[in-house]
Amino acid sequence: MEKPLKGAHEKSLLIDQHSLKSQLRFLTCGSVDDGKSTLIGRLLFDAKVLTHDQLESLRANSGGFASNPAKLDFSLLLDGLSAEREQGITIDVAYRFFTTVRRSFIVADCPGHEQYTRNMVTGASNCELAILLVDATKGILPQTRRHSLIASKLGIRNIVLAVNKMDLANWDQERFDSIVNDFDQFSVGLGFTEVTAIPLSGLLGANVVDRSQRMPWYQGPCLLEYLETVPSVDHETMDTPLRIIVQGSVINSLGRGDTYHRAITGFVAAGTATIGAAVRIMPSGRTTSISEILMPSDADNGVQVGRAITFTLAQETDCGRGSLVCAQSSAPQMADAFVADLVWMSEDPLLIGQRFWLKIGANTTVATVIAINHRLDINTGKLCQAESLELNGLGEVVIETTKPFAFEAYANNKALGGFVLVDRLSHATVAAGMIDRSTNIASENLHWQFTEIDAEARADLKGQFPLVVWLTGLSGAGKSTIANLAEKRLFELGYHTYLLEGDNLRYGLNRDLAFSPEDRRENIRRAGEVARLMTDAGLIVIAAFISPFLADRAAIRQMMPTGRFLEVHVHVSLEEAERRDPKGLYRKARSGKLKGFTGIDSPYEPAVAPEMYIDTQALSAAEAADQIVAEILALQARQNSPTIPKTSSTDTP
Ligand code: ADX
Repeated sequence: MEKPLKGAHEKSLLIDQHSLKSQLRFLTCGSVDDGKSTLIGRLLFDAKVLTHDQLESLRANSGGFASNPAKLDFSLLLDGLSAEREQGITIDVAYRFFTTVRRSFIVADCPGHEQYTRNMVTGASNCELAILLVDATKGILPQTRRHSLIASKLGIRNIVLAVNKMDLANWDQERFDSIVNDFDQFSVGLGFTEVTAIPLSGLLGANVVDRSQRMPWYQGPCLLEYLETVPSVDHETMDTPLRIIVQGSVINSLGRGDTYHRAITGFVAAGTATIGAAVRIMPSGRTTSISEILMPSDADNGVQVGRAITFTLAQETDCGRGSLVCAQSSAPQMADAFVADLVWMSEDPLLIGQRFWLKIGANTTVATVIAINHRLDINTGKLCQAESLELNGLGEVVIETTKPFAFEAYANNKALGGFVLVDRLSHATVAAGMIDRSTNIASENLHWQFTEIDAEARADLKGQFPLVVWLTGLSGAGKSTIANLAEKRLFELGYHTYLLEGDNLRYGLNRDLAFSPEDRRENIRRAGEVARLMTDAGLIVIAAFISPFLADRAAIRQMMPTGRFLEVHVHVSLEEAERRDPKGLYRKARSGKLKGFTGIDSPYEPAVAPEMYIDTQALSAAEAADQIVAEILALQARQNSPTIPKTSSTDTP
């Protein structure tokens, strides 16, 4: 007879109970030989959390795969990928979810071999606890050391040393004690705060879920009992200061009748979000409070770490993707230079000076690896000098980013200290990183100072939308002439502007710089910083620099909020530039009196997709200026329109 269907109310109660149950994310490491898959399979089987279908297929398949057909081959439950079965190894991270009466679990099952270190890193990045499997007949192996080191680097503080195959070691206490002793000696300095050693047999189910009669000398918990009762890290970070990683915001009318307001969505990365909580928005530094929590609906006691949240702020303020909403009394540090541990995941080795996208939380910025402090030999634990990192290599590096962001050390908060590096061309993730500390000069004593009057306020007073219009192109293209005309026109219309001009800056701020690629890079970096400060001051900045290198212009774009950097390629052919030669410099360069001149013996890299392309051989300077001004005015109008949401100054691509 069919069971009656549960009512909707009953169902939702069940779901609620399920979601409120505490969750533990753990990682299993060790190799096939250690019996890892068998252990986890046994755990699921004995805990009676397998579905009817899983049990059936286990029974059906075990006949074909198990060495002894009379026994179930539990490893089949985990080795789900066919390639694994064929090769007899686990090649990717397999996630398993299961729930017991006391807790729900997410298991990341990672491959053991050294060439899969990157998979282990992927699997471990979210875990609070690691089960390190040791074969009782073999003891601590290089692989155990390697996995311990990586777990330690990934900030896992809680280890279960699962001494497996005790049946093959005569259930011998001395054997167990000596392995535990070896591990204790080896793991000194790895920062594990809790190591729980359990003697067990995955194959026979001893001390996995049910206590074994064969090892009366062991008084500690069985594996499942331990996993069900160990305090979760989320519990520990519940009382730390609030951090919400903002993933986006939408204008809607939810909750407050007819008035439109901005609903912000994000993820609570630390602490508990409550209605009325006094918060500071990073990076703007604006202070306000949480006025409403729209989701989840059961937020009476606040929204705790690890959960998604949708909320509104008491004051309408810039709080777009990439912002961080923090407890007002304790905002994190801002920095743009870091020491970090890096796990290299690409076939092509890491080289110093390479640039990547760095993604951290909901933030993306351009980053350069400027030094490799050392490489860690994960087999010996020794630090070695290194010029590059190879696939699966782990090392300490120094990274600079083009814009500062709020962060915390990975050891304190994985969400705010963990990042990935992404190749800018292939979009492949090439590394996982863990921030240790900032290296900004005197960073220990350096704190981002928030000012009462901020960029938004200054811009509001001037009634304009500050931005940078960046004119790039060969010498003689007409950048300065066009910039001049455009500024004049804006000035006449009552806009507050500034014209940043290459030659002029080189008389003052950049007088120490010449024209080597490095000097040009620094020239453009400084000019970009000044332009950004001026937009902070509320100005519309027109910049005219040759700025020959793509990467340098991209770095400024990165520094600026989305939509506030317009790249204008002021085009002229080299022949025409030489014909114009307003300063006589092409002649000098051709005669060899001037070295490293752009277009002659120094390259110019045109933009692939600039916001504007001006062909100065087809347009007069006045026409070019008109086009630029029209674009600027269109953007001003858009920002003043009541129907179109303003671009957030903290948005990142
Ligand atoms: S950039 O390459 O670093 O962006 P910037 O725009 O500041 O150059 O300055 C370019 C101006 O410097 C040119 O308009 C020209 O007057 C002068 N100049 C002197 N030497 C060089 C050179 N080797 N290459 C290009 N410009 C030069």
